[in-house]
Amino acid sequence: MKKYVISGGKPLNGEVSLSGGKNAVVGIIPAAVLVKGVCVIENVPAINDVADLVDIMKKMGADVRYLDEKTLRIDSTNVVSYVADYDAVRKLRASYYLIGALLGRFGHARVGLPGGCDFVERPIDYHIKGFEALGAIVDIKHGIVVADAEKLTGTSMNLDFPSVGATVNIMLAAVLAEGLTVIENAGKEPHIVDIANFLNAMGAQIKGAGTDVIKIKGVAELHGGHYEIIPDQIEAGTFMAAAAAAGGRVILRNVIPKHLESISAKIEESGAKVEEFDDYLIVSRDADSPIKNLNIKTLPYPGFPTDMQSQMAALLSRAGGTSIITETIFSHRFKYVDELRRMGAKMTVDGNICVIEGVDKLTGASVRACDLRTGVTLVIAALIAEGITEISDVRYIERGYENIVDKLRSLGADIKVVNDDTPAVTETKIS
Ligand code: EPU
Repeated sequence: MKKYVISGGKPLNGEVSLSGGKNAVVGIIPAAVLVKGVCVIENVPAINDVADLVDIMKKMGADVRYLDEKTLRIDSTNVVSYVADYDAVRKLRASYYLIGALLGRFGHARVGLPGGCDFVERPIDYHIKGFEALGAIVDIKHGIVVADAEKLTGTSMNLDFPSVGATVNIMLAAVLAEGLTVIENAGKEPHIVDIANFLNAMGAQIKGAGTDVIKIKGVAELHGGHYEIIPDQIEAGTFMAAAAAAGGRVILRNVIPKHLESISAKIEESGAKVEEFDDYLIVSRDADSPIKNLNIKTLPYPGFPTDMQSQMAALLSRAGGTSIITETIFSHRFKYVDELRRMGAKMTVDGNICVIEGVDKLTGASVRACDLRTGVTLVIAALIAEGITEISDVRYIERGYENIVDKLRSLGADIKVVNDDTPAVTETKIS
């Protein structure tokens, strides 16, 4: 098992090119099941979630190959099975998109309940309600979602919450359904728009993605085509928080600044400078200047993303004053707090609120990445801590961050990968 070993206290300087969006690609690969033809998908990030989805797709009979390291060719013409491999599906959360895609293609789906980050309980009842509204009968038997429909027929539905997963999954099930499906109170996240754009590039008729109301006019079939995935909003935000926390000047290339507005606003409020250009951003902070305390409330897009609150907590752990984070999407998403406390952070959690009292310094410690965003939060904390931090279970980080070690190293971070059995800190006192 790999660990990251980080020696903190170095500012970040230089430039880094960010990768394709995780939460877009994990919808687009299953969406390719709906296409009888060749989909060529560019800007695919090399992350473990993609490797797991490719594995699942191949096991279902899809012809999946890399044309180069970032371009995936998927031909689902010969997929005949609507059963997704149970063990593979349990490795990642986004395997739930196979339910909508297989249901749309075959009228049947057998997909194990998803796995992935286990930071809180994550039900899929809105997805199921949507499939049922389209005419499917859905049951959960022995941990497997069993969905069958004689025919899927478009209808109007209003989501109880603008859920990302439910919006995408219902869209997937509806593109080949008969008639018009209208999703009201739909999610508006950039990756939802990207998945809709992918489907439209393959011949679907989806309008309104990125607004509250998405209209999907069913078509008889989808055809192959080319598509380029958008840059990862949260990877960009993570590097912004890292640069603001460590100090220095970082140019972030391959970003869409519009998608980052709520994050940029908070990074600036913390005292760092954010300069926006067409497809790049510069984040800078004089390492000696103070980090300012602030409050954050997570909200659906265009509000501040839940996937960024923990990285901001690492930054705010060193702020001058008290900051409050209110989590409204996943109310108990604070697994990182115990680990940051080991490093000297002062944080308390009460329900969906985390109160952070800024401290003068964090100190290196042995900590564990218990999910994707917790993991990367510990990386940021380690970058600003005094001494050496060892982060275990980094496989969670690599589920969603491509080459994070090389990217940070190129910016001047002192980070290395070691095997669990390597005594990385024997010579160094961890205070
Ligand atoms: N919810 C339900 N029932 C459902 C679906 C959602 O009660 O059927 C609730 C959830 O429990 C939560 C809220 O609705 O309280 C929003 O959940 P949403 O469905 O939007 O989240 P998700 O689809 O499970 C995706 C991302 C998450 C990201 C959230 C919110 C993917 C694969 N996952 O999850 O990403 O946090 O949207 O933006 O797209 C991450 O990247 O670290 C990550 C966890």
